[in-house]
Amino acid sequence: MSLNDDPNRVIIFDTTLRDGEQSPGASMNLDEKLRIAELLAELGVDVIEAGFPIASNGDFEAVQEVSKLVKGPIICGLARSGRADIERAAEALAPAERRRIHTFIATSPLHMKYKLQMEPDDVHAAVIDSVAHARRFTDDVDWSPEDGSRTDPDFLCRCVEAAIRAGATCINLPDTVGYALPEEFGGLIRMLRERVPNSDKAIFSAHCHNDLGLAVANSLAAVEAGARQVECTINGLGERAGNAALEEIVMALRTRHDLMPYTTAIDTSVITRVSKLVSTITGFTVQPNKAIVGANAFAHEAGIHQDGVLKHAGTYEIMTPESVGLARSTLVMGKHSGRHAFREKIRELGYDLGENALQDAFRRFKDLADKKKDIFDEDIAALVDDAVIRRNDRIRFVSLQVICGSVGPQTATLELDIDGDRRATEATGDGPVDATFNAIKGLYPHTAGLKLYQVHAVTEGTDAQAEVTVRLEEEGKTVNGQGADTDTLVASARAYVNALNKLLVKREKTAPQAMIA
Ligand code: KIV
Ligand code: ZN
Repeated sequence: MSLNDDPNRVIIFDTTLRDGEQSPGASMNLDEKLRIAELLAELGVDVIEAGFPIASNGDFEAVQEVSKLVKGPIICGLARSGRADIERAAEALAPAERRRIHTFIATSPLHMKYKLQMEPDDVHAAVIDSVAHARRFTDDVDWSPEDGSRTDPDFLCRCVEAAIRAGATCINLPDTVGYALPEEFGGLIRMLRERVPNSDKAIFSAHCHNDLGLAVANSLAAVEAGARQVECTINGLGERAGNAALEEIVMALRTRHDLMPYTTAIDTSVITRVSKLVSTITGFTVQPNKAIVGANAFAHEAGIHQDGVLKHAGTYEIMTPESVGLARSTLVMGKHSGRHAFREKIRELGYDLGENALQDAFRRFKDLADKKKDIFDEDIAALVDDAVIRRNDRIRFVSLQVICGSVGPQTATLELDIDGDRRATEATGDGPVDATFNAIKGLYPHTAGLKLYQVHAVTEGTDAQAEVTVRLEEEGKTVNGQGADTDTLVASARAYVNALNKLLVKREKTAPQAMIA
């Protein structure tokens, strides 16, 4: 992106796949990262930070595959200041049409003394060396002073000036621990732009964490102060309280264009789809009252509100649901709908399925139509997601029968297909879910512990499909499995089996501890 572009254009830098994934439990596999990256490109983000290549082979591969596959956005990889980090990032990014290296080092007194155990002059030298080294691989280098908001202003100016002189084209200011207040954070950006002699040679950027619930406010204050890039994540995913939520920043800029005359390249109608995809994959459900993407964000329950909205939407709606891609639930099809109509519907919902996945989804749709009277777009999306999630599974759900109720013991009879071999067993447990999971353990013994079991209804009504997330952990590795069905126990078994499949293919992907926030 050239510095001469529209001065009011804000670059949206998405770090869902890097900072977002650092959120404990939010790990994603390669296939999932690619699905998210493709949808981020459709959303219109300018930069995708796809991972931290030196952190693990899994991260390296994710950055490399996103670089090969995703066209449009700049693909970025994170690197500490060491040369090995930078070279690994450059290698992973090599296939990208447009690539960026994001290199960082901590600059606050606390981090330099206790974490890095380095003197400020040595940190300053590392800034110059890391940026200059990164420039050997790309002319697009983003530099961040980690814990920047708690850095001594004079030292911050010195490092920023050195980074720009060494070739950084973007200076990203992180509020690593989510400590800053909006006026203060905007003031820091303003100070850097005014005091650093070569500040006109770089784009300034904000990277705010949400520990005090101020990440979006701080990011907007940075934009008002002259930052023209915001680093953010879908649903505000990220370590601890998360990062600034992309959807909130973009919709605030769009809705209050009267006071903030800045633009982005985001197609806001994709927001709901990408939010849903990220929450399904990570198992991090969105709270109902979350701004923009919460289930209640556009729901008007109170009679007085409903009356007002019916008379004039503007009475209580500052944005339309359609602007974020939230179509009113539409009754789509029933048991008599054919393959052709189904294929059209799938396309309309934004999916691009291969023939096998399409046939599988169509079969599931027919089964669903036998069980459920009204089928909505959300139902189709849930069963297609389910088919896509499962396409490479080695362990497959076949059937389940459960005896439950107030008279025990609750008993599950389960059949699985493991590498093409059908196996069946029966198990009891403390309740039907426990019995079902015990049966899975009986057929496929493993030591993974259950860390999360979560159910939510895809639509309203007692015949709604249940969408279940199961999180398993084994030797520090975490995976999330998903399953959907009108029968909550079948959905639970599918989710557990999906998590087990992911454990089977999980690669070593542990980031160096205490390096990043
Ligand atoms: O929060 C932070 O400081 C970071 C940096 C790596 C930019 O994520
Ligand atoms: Zn961060």
